[in-house]
Amino acid sequence: MPKTVSSFEFTLDSRPQDQTLTGWLYGELRSAILEGRLAPGTRLPASRDFASQYGLSRGTVVSVFERLQAEGYVTSRVGVGTLVNRVSVVRPARQMSVTPPAYVRRAIATHKLPRPLVDLPFTRGVRPFRIGAPDTKAFPAKVWGRIAARYARNFGSWLETEADVRGYRPMRDAIADYLRATRGVRCNPEQIFIVSGVQQALDLLARVLLKEHDQVWMEDPGYFGATIAFGNVGAEIIPVPVDEEGLLVSAGETICPHARGVYLTPAHQFPQGVTMSLERRMAILKWAKRTGAFIIEDDYDSEFRFEGQPVPSLHSLDNYSNVILIGSFSKTLFPSLRLGYVVLPPSLVDCFLAFRYQTDFRNSHVDQAILCEFIVQGHFARHMRRMRELYGSRLAAMIDGGKQHLSGLLDISNVQAGLYTIGFLTNGMTSRQAEKAAAVQGIEALGVDRYTFKHPDPKGVVLGFAAYPEPAIRKALIQLAKAFSKEPSGRRG
Ligand SMILES: Cc1ncc(COP(=O)(O)O)c(C=O)c1O
Repeated sequence: MPKTVSSFEFTLDSRPQDQTLTGWLYGELRSAILEGRLAPGTRLPASRDFASQYGLSRGTVVSVFERLQAEGYVTSRVGVGTLVNRVSVVRPARQMSVTPPAYVRRAIATHKLPRPLVDLPFTRGVRPFRIGAPDTKAFPAKVWGRIAARYARNFGSWLETEADVRGYRPMRDAIADYLRATRGVRCNPEQIFIVSGVQQALDLLARVLLKEHDQVWMEDPGYFGATIAFGNVGAEIIPVPVDEEGLLVSAGETICPHARGVYLTPAHQFPQGVTMSLERRMAILKWAKRTGAFIIEDDYDSEFRFEGQPVPSLHSLDNYSNVILIGSFSKTLFPSLRLGYVVLPPSLVDCFLAFRYQTDFRNSHVDQAILCEFIVQGHFARHMRRMRELYGSRLAAMIDGGKQHLSGLLDISNVQAGLYTIGFLTNGMTSRQAEKAAAVQGIEALGVDRYTFKHPDPKGVVLGFAAYPEPAIRKALIQLAKAFSKEPSGRRG
């Protein structure tokens, strides 16, 4: 005669608030069976008794028993009751070994973290002066939410959508219009692919355009996201110096005249913040035309221009299809959206399509539809205007505060565009010493040397300003002044 279990280790109070009763009870019983606390052959109380013992509805208990039976954990038989089956017992999670299995150790040993990501002083929470973060508090979340709610009400129609690998067609139309109006880009929607941000664009482009040992120019210092993507396909990075006019094309031509291509951030050089001059733009286009090289133009935060006329994209100056433009909504809207775009020459579309198909097919259409409506209804342009003004005043606060509190220690550049600037150290510290000293004061100011290849330490730190209100900026600058007034600790640079 099977033994009927009469009490369990759990109580209703232990249910997390965000879990349904059914989900919680199922999880508890399943764990008890898997961990051997409910031995094979044990009889569970009748559903009616179980329900009254725990103050549950009988329907809840019956549906949990049915699910456990369907999954093979118990067997219910008329006249006998619900009996626990023999299943392989696993150790409870709290006793799980903390030693990583061999395959995990192998993976960790094989893949070294890229240098810009090693020993980051902070990993959680956005704090001054983390770069890359837009001010999400200023985002019109209610407007976005209203559009999303309308789509949610009619969700059935989104379960099956046109399977175009390039992305949701109205969204590609909207991007083509937007790029034509704001960046002078001449393209049709057939040339546009929606991707999950610049990083996916770089990953795909690297695989499409490069093979092992191919040489590719990178701005030095430059964007690590591109280095990672090119490194993953075994390409050889050729660092090319950057000055106040952008990439030194003549230096590139001397160092490696026949590189396959180049990655550039002409609107706002990462991380030095300079805008590429027209002369250099023409020079790089000429080089690409002559050698048949590609130019990947990362237009990631060109929208945020605070001074002078917007500089047209490199793409708009190119008559020979050498430029591939990539862009992202991570900065203009919010980072978790993970949507961006690639504008390809028509001749490359099919090849790129094949790679996208092999990777993840396409992005969710619903998100694109919401974004598309946000753009078409004028919310995007309105948000950009507001953010340009807000970020412009934050940059001004940064420059003023720098002059007031950091004179003789740090010279903060008055960049013309973007969400971050660079401060050059005038106190004798190396980039790494400054980064460490700032971290001690609770400030995130990453050393520019994280982003260099061959370039000697530029002795500077990158400072994001967009996500922080002016009082927070001033307070953090005072902390930085404290950090940078001290004698550098350790000589490691
Ligand atoms: C130079 C550069 N390009 C692109 C991006 C955005 O990339 P994603 O669209 O993958 O978020 C960043 C983000 O920090 C960046 O610094």
